[in-house]
Amino acid sequence: MPVPEHFSFTRYLAAKKSVDDRALNRQVWETLRQNLPETSPQNPLHILEIGAGIGTMLERILERKLLRHVMYTAIDNQTENIDAARRRLQSMPGIRILETHKKQGRTANKQEQPLITLQLQERDILHMISLQQGKQLYDLLIAHAFLDLVDLPSSLGGILSLLKPGGLFYFTLNFDGLTLFEPQLDRLLDETIMQLYHHSMDERLQDGRPSGDSRTGRHLFTYLQECGGQILAAGASDWVVYPKEGSYPEDEAYFLHFILHTIETALSGHPELEPATLSSWIQKRQAQIERGELVYIAHQIDFIGKYQP
Ligand SMILES: C[S@@+](CC[C@H](N)C(=O)[O-])C[C@H]1O[C@@H](n2cnc3c(N)ncnc32)[C@H](O)[C@@H]1O
Repeated sequence: MPVPEHFSFTRYLAAKKSVDDRALNRQVWETLRQNLPETSPQNPLHILEIGAGIGTMLERILERKLLRHVMYTAIDNQTENIDAARRRLQSMPGIRILETHKKQGRTANKQEQPLITLQLQERDILHMISLQQGKQLYDLLIAHAFLDLVDLPSSLGGILSLLKPGGLFYFTLNFDGLTLFEPQLDRLLDETIMQLYHHSMDERLQDGRPSGDSRTGRHLFTYLQECGGQILAAGASDWVVYPKEGSYPEDEAYFLHFILHTIETALSGHPELEPATLSSWIQKRQAQIERGELVYIAHQIDFIGKYQP
């Protein structure tokens, strides 16, 4: 696949789905399944998914028949993601979407007996916890490929306090400080670029506040414990993207181009990297994708646990 002319975040999230399907830790998923409480139409499970993107985790939950009788609230702070989620999910069997705000005049799609009643909300979790901290609203919190984007020391306690005591958290794909590309181009330059890229995650600011940690996975063991989270299972959920007979499955070549684009954007103008050095490195990696050679690995960790404040 040649280098795309434009990069779309929603297409990236769609392309990421098959990579995530392979990556999710099966033991952690099974522990979630085993710990889910019994539900009924009168006693549904209340779930909040934070940073839900275009809704692929909910699709996966339906595809894998994980849940029934659920009130599912999916929030994301980007309008285009929520709109894309609505388009993807509205015709999916088993889901009834409740329109709660903004898109006036739309009605809930008709499902005789939906497995999942869904509210899609354009909302910022940090704003949400400033209003609802400690309200104990949910039985299960899901955050997938999200927690490494926020400042956990200042926000994890508030996030967990949205759970009822004894409620479950399923926090997956938490980046943990290792990015690898093969085949090697130049060992020293490869390592320097990865170090600077990880450092850029640690230094990222949003609205003047810290927003990210390149070692979120390992740090969660401590942060969760400090905030009343009892870990029931944890395990690796590394992304491993590789070609088979010279080509990538699904839209994974696009996924790889997007990852390179993210690295280039993060490091462009970096004082420790010559612009020409960075762009030549990116071009060589892009050429490896086009030839169906590039292998990409990112280390991540999944958690399932119980909130025992
Ligand atoms: C890496 S994406 C993952 C999306 C989705 N969970 C997935 O894996 O496909 C992170 C998502 O979090 C959303 N996000 C970032 N900061 C947020 C915040 N403070 N509140 C709510 N959503 C946020 C972004 O818009 C983005 O869709």
